[in-house]
Amino acid sequence: MRDDAAKVWMVSRFKDVRGLINDPAMLRSPHAAEEGSISRRFAQMNDGDGPQSILFMDDPDHARVRKPLAKALYKRTQSMKTEIEGLIDTVIDACPADGIFDLMKDVAIPVPVLVIAHILGVDESRLDDFREWSEAAILSLNPVRTPDQTAQMEAGNQALLQYFSELLERRRRNPREDLISDMASYQASGGEMSDAELLTNLASLLIGGNFTTTDLIGNGVWLLLTHPDELRKLRADRSLTGPAVDEILRFESPVASTSRTLPADHEVAGCPMKQSQTVFCSLHGANRDPEVFAQSDRFDITRAKKAHVTFGGGQHLCIGAPLARIEARRVLEKLLDRYDTIELAQDEIVWRQLPFFRGIEELKIRVS
Ligand code: HEM
Repeated sequence: MRDDAAKVWMVSRFKDVRGLINDPAMLRSPHAAEEGSISRRFAQMNDGDGPQSILFMDDPDHARVRKPLAKALYKRTQSMKTEIEGLIDTVIDACPADGIFDLMKDVAIPVPVLVIAHILGVDESRLDDFREWSEAAILSLNPVRTPDQTAQMEAGNQALLQYFSELLERRRRNPREDLISDMASYQASGGEMSDAELLTNLASLLIGGNFTTTDLIGNGVWLLLTHPDELRKLRADRSLTGPAVDEILRFESPVASTSRTLPADHEVAGCPMKQSQTVFCSLHGANRDPEVFAQSDRFDITRAKKAHVTFGGGQHLCIGAPLARIEARRVLEKLLDRYDTIELAQDEIVWRQLPFFRGIEELKIRVS
């Protein structure tokens, strides 16, 4: 299907989506997209003069920046797993022992910020500032933000980059066990990455990772509370926590779509398409494709394991996927350990109005 106003194609079958996102010839930079397309316009709204997040880069620069960053993030995610789980436990232990609270405000929003701050090496004394800057920087994901929000976003971005730049200097002098020290040491050993590329991509870990993981946690708890049989299965067999997280990721994917741009005229999903045309790949559509997932509209934590496309694929496969899975698993485990009963304490759910994302505004739960 082609949307002539947005100047994009849309594919939604699993095989078409996977074929495109895994194709190494496809481009991601919005500058490769045709003039007037929504991808190009959105990029123009956000573009400063500096470097881009790896999400919007193409090779060879994409591989040059992504490889060391992804390696450092994977290494820290593994080596800090116990500390990450400890942080999550502390957040949930601070929630009321019984009564009603908002899971989004008290758990799903704070957890990803706290965890990424710890991995990066943010000083504890600056955590509140860091939270505020991250929230402002994330406004870049909102294509319909107000002028006030744009000003807030720019100020948050500036403050974040300034702080990361100071932290990088300090870690060059005194390395610690954190991701910023890893990247400083990569640069010192001759790794080809400018400070500006590094700082932008440190900020993109927050922008790409915070909302999405918040939504994974919120959507997951909501799905389990609205499917009591599935919740019962999980309580009875905790080895289902990993499969439950993957079924949540498939069923209510926090990111609705990704995109690829054609480097040359090419036939996609049986349609002739032109060079520079952009194709939106519906991750929601692909993950509910009945050709691939039997009874695809059924939320079933015991369904046979099959790869979904929630984290995209190919060269741009999400580098935060292992971290997001660790966080979501621990939140579910800890909630079930801490509370004998958890139920929804509101009648209607309000979904956040943000294009391309799927997440809940507020999730009041009653616990005991
Ligand atoms: C449930 C949580 C998450 C979801 C659903 C998600 C989803 C995605 C998707 C769909 C992409 C684009 C992939 C493509 O176009 O093929 C992506 C890329 C990316 N994600 Fe995530 N993400 C999540 C968590 C995270 C976290 C926790 C981080 C970092 C701490 C992160 C950092 C990134 C980065 C840096 C990219 C760009 C990779 C590249 O283009 O090479 N994400 N993510």
